Amino acid sequence: METQSLWSTMYRGFFRHRFYLFIFIFAHFAHGDVSYTVVEEMKRGSVIGNIAKDLGLSTASLSVRKARIDADKTDKRYSEINPRTGDLIVAERMDRESLCGKKVTCILKEELVLENPLELHRISIQVQDINDNAPEFSENLISFEIRESAAKGARFLLTEARDADIGSNAVQRYELQNNEHFTVHVNTEVSGRKQPELELIKELDREQKAELRLILTAKDGGNPQRSGTAAVHVTVLDANDNAPVFSKSVYKCTLAENSDVGTLVTAVTATDADEGPNGDVTYIFDHVSNNHVSLFSLDQKTGEIRVMGEVDYEKEGSIELRIRAKDGPGLTSYCTVNIDIMDVNDNPPTISLKSLSSSIPENAPPGTEVGIINVQDRDSDKNGQVRCSIQGNAPFKLVPSIKNYYSVVSTGQLDRELVSDYNISIFATDEGSPPLSSSKSVHLSVADINDNPPVFEEQSYSAYVSENNQAGSTLCRVSARDPDWRQNGTVIYSLLAAEVNGAPVSSYVSVNGDTGLIHAVRSFDYEQLRSFQVQVMARDNGSPPLSSNVSVSVLIWDVNDNSPQILYPAPEGSSFMTELVPKAAHGGSLVSKVIAVDADSGQNAWLSYHIVKSTDPGLFTIGLHSGEIRTQRDISQSDSMKQNLIVAVKDNGQPSLSATCAMYLLISDNLAEVPELKEISYEEKNSKLTSYLIIALVCVSTFFLTFIIIILGVRFCRRRKPRLLFDGAVAIPSGYLPPNYADVDGTGTLRSAYNYDAYLTTGSRTSDFKFVSSYNDNTLPADQTLRKSPTDFLEAFDESTDASQQKPPNND
Ligand SMILES: *[C@@H]1O[C@H](CO)[C@@H](O)[C@H](O)[C@H]1NC(C)=O
Ligand SMILES: *[C@@H]1O[C@H](CO)[C@@H](O)[C@H](O)[C@H]1NC(C)=O
Ligand SMILES: *[C@@H]1O[C@H](CO)[C@@H](O)[C@H](O)[C@H]1NC(C)=O
Repeated sequence: METQSLWSTMYRGFFRHRFYLFIFIFAHFAHGDVSYTVVEEMKRGSVIGNIAKDLGLSTASLSVRKARIDADKTDKRYSEINPRTGDLIVAERMDRESLCGKKVTCILKEELVLENPLELHRISIQVQDINDNAPEFSENLISFEIRESAAKGARFLLTEARDADIGSNAVQRYELQNNEHFTVHVNTEVSGRKQPELELIKELDREQKAELRLILTAKDGGNPQRSGTAAVHVTVLDANDNAPVFSKSVYKCTLAENSDVGTLVTAVTATDADEGPNGDVTYIFDHVSNNHVSLFSLDQKTGEIRVMGEVDYEKEGSIELRIRAKDGPGLTSYCTVNIDIMDVNDNPPTISLKSLSSSIPENAPPGTEVGIINVQDRDSDKNGQVRCSIQGNAPFKLVPSIKNYYSVVSTGQLDRELVSDYNISIFATDEGSPPLSSSKSVHLSVADINDNPPVFEEQSYSAYVSENNQAGSTLCRVSARDPDWRQNGTVIYSLLAAEVNGAPVSSYVSVNGDTGLIHAVRSFDYEQLRSFQVQVMARDNGSPPLSSNVSVSVLIWDVNDNSPQILYPAPEGSSFMTELVPKAAHGGSLVSKVIAVDADSGQNAWLSYHIVKSTDPGLFTIGLHSGEIRTQRDISQSDSMKQNLIVAVKDNGQPSLSATCAMYLLISDNLAEVPELKEISYEEKNSKLTSYLIIALVCVSTFFLTFIIIILGVRFCRRRKPRLLFDGAVAIPSGYLPPNYADVDGTGTLRSAYNYDAYLTTGSRTSDFKFVSSYNDNTLPADQTLRKSPTDFLEAFDESTDASQQKPPNND
């Protein structure tokens, strides 16, 4: 109320001057026009002005003249006159905005009507604006979509706020809540309309703020000031203003070589702050060499790098890949992937032969180098550390020399004859886990050295051959082996020069140099040569040659090629010997003895005696093997004085040979009383010579017998039982013995007696053996000294030993 009146006072003061001017004009040219100014929205009854006074009318006349206010053209009256005071008062609410809208001046035209006389005064009431309306936006929310790429200074038209008031009460200013991106710029048009615009003062970044909510305030210029607000919603549209960004600029990773295809190596990620296609990142290799492209695959979408090929540490220990990330429109960025390849023990060691002698002489000393090998492993560190050795029992070892080189060196003495070649297996293994290994076999042959002499298969050889062999017959074969190679092992046989019985050995046997067959060169005679030894040498063809010797004993077998030889009685015709048989001889008395020998030996010399013819068949018998002729019965007077016996001596050979002799027996006590003796002597042709011989023989025999008796006497004293018993004194002259036997007999005193006894007892040389065996058993060790005794004796000795095994007669 107070303010209103204050206002009206102010307006009145303000318009008074003009009022006077109007009045002056009205008074001068027309009567009755008045103007008033009133602010809108005055209370009903409020005084606008004193019209009576202004028109010069007395207040008394007003009611008399029925003063009233009529509205001009309209029905509605906004003012009235107070007839008592003459004041024009507000009758109806005056809203300037509804009366005049946006017109700058708002004038109500009314008339004061007076009657008696009728007077018409026009009244203009100018309604003045007050700030009774606030600015108002047509919409509460103003939405914008602004691309983030919008440049600074860009403007966006805002809807303007309306304020029904006019003039300064209308919208004067726009304000935007404090924000860094936008400001409001107001464009004042010619019409005076103020068009607000958003002006971008700082670029937008969708990635920072995808939408902005601002409050736009419109303010008028009234007092008090009024304002209206609207929300401004700015959606920031994406622009491809961000390149993809990798999470790291360098990715480091490790990968074992030989990883399976499909193994994930690493994944790169790049983010793009933009959205939509602008933020769609794809990955591609950038300037990656073809090798690497075939090794790795890159997932365009996920950025996963996977193994596609065979990754080999030995080819490349580390791999660098450059990767480009690209968003939809094509902004890119780069990163580097460093892949360290880890070594895996995938390479076995390789053994290569750098040099190798093709052969090594078997006499090479231990430590001789035969070859050089080189061992390598492409892996690194432990996987590439190689140990190598020689497997098996070959006498070789590896001696490490420089770096990966090894010498193959012999460790022991070689022998080609035992092992002629070696497969040296070299084995190499690395230290990886699991370790890998490889081996190589090296062939080495051992060269021959002539280090083996030929060796005979037997220590000595014996060849048996029957006497009377054909010259050229094969005796035996010697064979020697030499394990050496080729000519070092080629064996040549030869005889060593020596003498047999004074003749060169080559006149007895020969040896085939190649085959070792020994041939007889001549026919052998057992009775002359029973055995002999030759030395055969086997020599190889090496240089110098090696040789060895072996002895070959050639033993000659007896063949029954000698007839028994009758020593006593002398062969018929050569002598006439007559045995005297005492007339008083009883049956069984020893009358005489046929003594025969056989140059052969053994069965061939086992003699048997038979009487093939006799004067009186019943009177005499002969011992089958002793040759002793004994009476079968007592001699009687009726028996013929002269008795003749034909005795056959046979050996036991196959076929057997025999000899016969005649034995003349004279049954008489006295030689002189034999009349027929003359007859007998006449029969002998050279009787004179023979009688001398007989005398000599008797003398020698007597002497000999005496000698034996002495010896036997001596022996008898030592031995209680003498071995030799003489049944009768039969004197055998030693002159009857063949020369070789005589030699045997003459070798020693006792021996000859013994021998003699043997002859007497058995009448054959088989007794030789008996003697020798006893001799051998009792007294002599098998001694070299014995072998030094006379050769014939030795031979006889040997022969009888051999014969012992095949002579049944000796055993009795
Ligand atoms: C050595 O190897 C060769 C061939 O593999 C073979 O014929 C020969 O018998 C081998 N020698 C030895 C001593 O193993
Ligand atoms: C035989 O041995 C000698 C050395 O004693 C040697 O030099 C030679 O090569 C050998 N001969 C053969 C065929 O091996
Ligand atoms: C073989 O006998 C000959 C001749 O007596 C001799 O020179 C040679 O050394 C002997 N060889 C051996 C191996 O005894």
